[in-house]
Amino acid sequence: MAKKAQFASKIGLIAATVGSAVGLGNIWRFPAEAQANGGAAFLIVYILCALVLGIPVMLAEFSLGRAGQSGAVGSFQRLKASRAWGAVGFIAVLASYLILCFYMVVAGWTFEYLWQSITGHLYEPVQGASNLQSQFASRMEEFICDPWNPLINTYAVIIVNILILIAGVQKGIERLSNILMPLLFVILLVFTCVAMTLPKAAEGLSYFFHPDFTKLTPTVVLNALGQSFFSMSLGMGILITYAAYFPRDARLTKTAFTVAGLDLMVSVMMGMIIFPAVMSFNLEGESLRGATMVFVTLPEIFAAIPLTQLWSILFFLLLLVAAITSTISIAEVTVAMLQDRLKLSRVRAVLLALMPLFAFSALCSLSQGPLSHFLVFGMNIFDLLDNFATNILLPLGSILLCIYIGWFAPEWLLPRELTNDGALHSRYVPLVKFAIKYVAPVLILFVLLTPILN
Ligand code: PFF
Repeated sequence: MAKKAQFASKIGLIAATVGSAVGLGNIWRFPAEAQANGGAAFLIVYILCALVLGIPVMLAEFSLGRAGQSGAVGSFQRLKASRAWGAVGFIAVLASYLILCFYMVVAGWTFEYLWQSITGHLYEPVQGASNLQSQFASRMEEFICDPWNPLINTYAVIIVNILILIAGVQKGIERLSNILMPLLFVILLVFTCVAMTLPKAAEGLSYFFHPDFTKLTPTVVLNALGQSFFSMSLGMGILITYAAYFPRDARLTKTAFTVAGLDLMVSVMMGMIIFPAVMSFNLEGESLRGATMVFVTLPEIFAAIPLTQLWSILFFLLLLVAAITSTISIAEVTVAMLQDRLKLSRVRAVLLALMPLFAFSALCSLSQGPLSHFLVFGMNIFDLLDNFATNILLPLGSILLCIYIGWFAPEWLLPRELTNDGALHSRYVPLVKFAIKYVAPVLILFVLLTPILN
């Protein structure tokens, strides 16, 4: 039998796991969520959610994966859990696959915008556009609604993913993350410095860092919780899958704090970039939502400052790097499952997992344009997948995982994995167990039920 794949170094495993966590969720979703939910008040709740819930759930995934030495489904089976728990693994795989379908499309958009920044096409005037905002808005509209162009870009990103994944865990995922993650941090640092030179940088920072607790509502708490799970890649089996590649002497608690800390740092840096821009350019509401912020508002700002093309290239490169290191981790969940369950070679498993995306992601892509009138529950396919997977499957997967690790897994599992067979301190094990057993399931259940109770 082929030797089990493993990350070659501690730095490599951190780079790959941070690469998974840091994605469009931090760069694109976090600033918009923070802006809509009261700035600093949101930030504080978000940090609390990451500490009280995110880190314990992350440790539950790490422990399961490293002890089970397999993917999201196989790990339950290797630990002799009943069949029902294997089904929980399948929920995670399903959630990850659904998310992958539309994440590839968005990654494709960033690819196109990087290309248009390099050629300068993005900043050429558009006929009939009266100002910069309408110029970028109509350019985005024209691109996203086009049947072919987004599709070609999505396919390009899928092919890049296939090539990286075929290269393997060490030579593909780890090697790429070792190069791309430092690059991502350098670009972010450059943007943070540039944001500090904006005219209203101080006002922006003060809005982001000085909490106004009157803004704190149950919705803010819910949104912060959802965002922290999305951002830390929890509930989809990604971290179970990656932990199976961790060497035996990797320290899980230290890794969890490092990954959560760096993920948080990227989100905070994005806040330190966006809020000074918000104040300096009088941005609000819609201009900061989703695709509009990335493809209309930011290019508008770049066009207004010197070195337009340079900033534009750097920013879309940042987005693409963040997106690719996340897509490979999401795809690896299915690849690992197929390799393990069907005993397929790496190449076959990668092809079997990713080829269907040429059809599924195409559907998501077309649902933004030619198929936008095809609605299910009032949503197009893209939004439906996003909402169903992110708001229902992710929390459901996390809650079931906590119940398994807290109540049903063998007693030795958590202490053994967290202390590396007794070699490390075990003081914090009861605390982690308490958080996994009681705190996380109750709070996540509360999140799941809130939309229903409302
Ligand atoms: N954590 C990554 C991000 O924030 O973009 C990747 C990701 C994980 C996306 C989980 C979506 C998700 F539900």
